[in-house]
Amino acid sequence: MKVFRTAEEIQSYSLNKRKEGKTIGFVPTMGYLHEGHQRLIKEARTHDDIVILSIFVNPLQFGPSEDFERYPRDEERDLKIAEMENVDAVFIPTVNDMYPRSLSITMKVTERTDVLCGKSREGHFDGVATVLTKLFHLILPHRAYFGLKDAQQVAVVDALIEDLNFPVELIPVPTVREGDGLARSSRNVYLSEEERQEAKYLYQALEHGRSLVKNGEKDRNVIINEVRNFINEHTHGKIDYVDLLTYPELQPLTHINQRVILAIAVFFNKARLIDNVIFEQNGELSYE
Ligand code: PAF
Repeated sequence: MKVFRTAEEIQSYSLNKRKEGKTIGFVPTMGYLHEGHQRLIKEARTHDDIVILSIFVNPLQFGPSEDFERYPRDEERDLKIAEMENVDAVFIPTVNDMYPRSLSITMKVTERTDVLCGKSREGHFDGVATVLTKLFHLILPHRAYFGLKDAQQVAVVDALIEDLNFPVELIPVPTVREGDGLARSSRNVYLSEEERQEAKYLYQALEHGRSLVKNGEKDRNVIINEVRNFINEHTHGKIDYVDLLTYPELQPLTHINQRVILAIAVFFNKARLIDNVIFEQNGELSYE
């Protein structure tokens, strides 16, 4: 497995692989790899000749009061996992490599961001779109793999690729869960033992909402209220949002008549957990 740390090295590696006629699958990450990332890598491994993983904690997508400094990092462990998963090349730039000077040009995402996490994380998706634009230019992937745990991110990447005509196919990959349903996340390490027990109810709350739709409920407000009540009854977490929107456009709707996302964000003491389910109007899951 090759490890590259500079933009020039990774770009020339990718150009050579393309010249050799290989397809490139790209898994962008901020490191501290877990099973969710491993699933993305496995997915890439089945579709593409070459799998490139990036590890970069992108300061541009963290707000001033967010956890950039204390975001968990463990390069040695990440490289072991990448090697075990047969990744061909890992790109690990420093902040200085990615942003050697202050940027004259950045991305501004104007749709799909005024709801869910975008609402409370101003500028977050601008930072994501900016770093992904740079990474797509450096890694030149045929396909890019993103986890549906961050479904709003997938919706934004979908728009980025379409609006700016990147020749990249977006592959959304279903969320990997613990045995009790908790979505895998690097931020789960921040949960106390008691909070970890309660966190399993977040997925149950979403499934409760989806089961209402399966049983014929179509009213958005009824479903949202039921999910809110479920979370409040089973956890001490503070709800940031519970929302139900069209997917991937992320538009509000009153009556479920198309594919939707039911999404939640809940604050625990040191962690804000997000989760979602995406389903059709009959309640059947859209991605499995
Ligand atoms: O999902 C993430 O880990 C990040 O937002 C990404 C896509 C690697 C961009 O920094």
